[in-house]
Amino acid sequence: MTPMTELMPGQFERIARIARHRWGLALTERKRSLVGNRLGSLLRGSRFSGVDAYLEYLEQDAGHEDMLAFFDVLSTNVTSFFRDPAHFEYLERQFYTPLARGDTTTPGRRIRIWSAGCSIGCEPCTLAMNALESLPDGQQWDVRILATDLSSSAVQQARAARYERRLIEHIPPDLVRKYFSPDPADPGRSVAGDRLRRMISVARMNLMEHWPMRGPFDVIFCRNVMIYFDAPTRLQLVRRFYDILSPGGVFAVGSAETLSGLDVPFRAVQASVYRK
Ligand SMILES: C[S@@+](CC[C@H](N)C(=O)[O-])C[C@H]1O[C@@H](n2cnc3c(N)ncnc32)[C@H](O)[C@@H]1O
Repeated sequence: MTPMTELMPGQFERIARIARHRWGLALTERKRSLVGNRLGSLLRGSRFSGVDAYLEYLEQDAGHEDMLAFFDVLSTNVTSFFRDPAHFEYLERQFYTPLARGDTTTPGRRIRIWSAGCSIGCEPCTLAMNALESLPDGQQWDVRILATDLSSSAVQQARAARYERRLIEHIPPDLVRKYFSPDPADPGRSVAGDRLRRMISVARMNLMEHWPMRGPFDVIFCRNVMIYFDAPTRLQLVRRFYDILSPGGVFAVGSAETLSGLDVPFRAVQASVYRK
């Protein structure tokens, strides 16, 4: 069993300060022991003599990769396929169906989607299956999904798109058969097939920094990401999402999140779903 690492007075506060400054993360006291234990595992066998030496390095001259390794200590990648199914049902009913009927149009049948904070890729894969299943002639549409996350290990896993059985179990069996195949290297896993992979591009990106893409996006999912951010960071981010959405575009946050109280002109259309 891994020994527990208890943070000394002041250490958690220093960690929280770096997290807020770099990534807008608001670490609460409840995370103290989780962060301590993860930090302990990271530092075991490392060149640092202890937590203080490591924090000094982070505060002064840590390189980009080291900061990302530290981000992995703090972040939570929990995700699943078809998480909050009501969001995908909304897209089917109120976004894809009117498009397929011709009630609304997109130039060149282009649909651009962004899964911001995609974790290991379950969300972008679900968005891809949802689009293909909702548009009767799914192949005739130019649907592209940008999937971004700051965590390097999450991005690596999203690119590999290999998933354990416990995750695959959330996908209806007919869709598993259609869009996944057994992993030849490990029969306990399934790999996303080419139809999904062709639609999804995965990139590492910090939401707090400059966004290299111009947009606009028709759909943006940023679910269960901003709950870890402080209020000013959340407001700033939601305004940027608003700006990069096309008129009428759909914006979804996690089911436990809301935009109420934020000064952004989104129209609430369903719990945790908004339109521009
Ligand atoms: C709990 S997961 C949510 C995954 C998925 N959106 C869902 O709802 O299932 C939160 C993700 O947000 C990412 N994240 C947190 N802060 C971020 C930032 N500043 N820039 C980009 N990604 C960030 C984390 O790495 C993590 O993978």
